[in-house]
Amino acid sequence: MNEPEIQLHDKTFVPYIHREEISQAIKKLANRINEDFEGQEVILLGILDGAFMVLSDLVKNLSVNCYIDFVKFKSYVGQQSTGKGKQLLGASLDLKDKNVIIVEDIIDTGHTLTELRAVLAGFQPKSLGVLTLLIKEEVFKNKFPVNYSGISIDNKFVVGYGMDYDGLGRHIPDIYVLKDPS
Ligand code: IMP
Ligand code: MG
Repeated sequence: MNEPEIQLHDKTFVPYIHREEISQAIKKLANRINEDFEGQEVILLGILDGAFMVLSDLVKNLSVNCYIDFVKFKSYVGQQSTGKGKQLLGASLDLKDKNVIIVEDIIDTGHTLTELRAVLAGFQPKSLGVLTLLIKEEVFKNKFPVNYSGISIDNKFVVGYGMDYDGLGRHIPDIYVLKDPS
């Protein structure tokens, strides 16, 4: 990947995961959902704002019939997980007795999904799965089962493909990582 570094606010980021690798990972995740839910319907629940790109590329590769919904849930300020989730917008579909798959861009500490899974379990879905494109396994430490996990990354701050640094960088088609201070 020869793209130059990018500057967002006060920080410099360098190329990390190319769009081709992202695309392959998303296709694999979609194929697994197609196998697991063949002949059934699923509700894909994207976590705004970060998961909008994962969700839109994922559904293009699905052959199962799916409903799409979003929740807005935030636990991050700048580069830090606050550990306290805030629900800003709830799901509008009825989740009861449905196969629900939460769609995330990245799992870091897992705090966001720990809280969200508890809230969603209250709606009594038939099944409640978790899909994430990226996972920081070293930080997450398997706090709960992740049914569909794309690419495992080191404990580094990344942007692009939906993910932001203080609001910027979401539109970038590749994933970039914070440049080491030199
Ligand atoms: P967790 O609650 O610590 O697992 O964090 C999950 C949420 O924090 C994700 O949905 C992202 O929105 C955000 N997040 C975690 N790591 C990063 C990162 O490296 N870059 C940008 N956003 C991140
Ligand atoms: Mg997010």
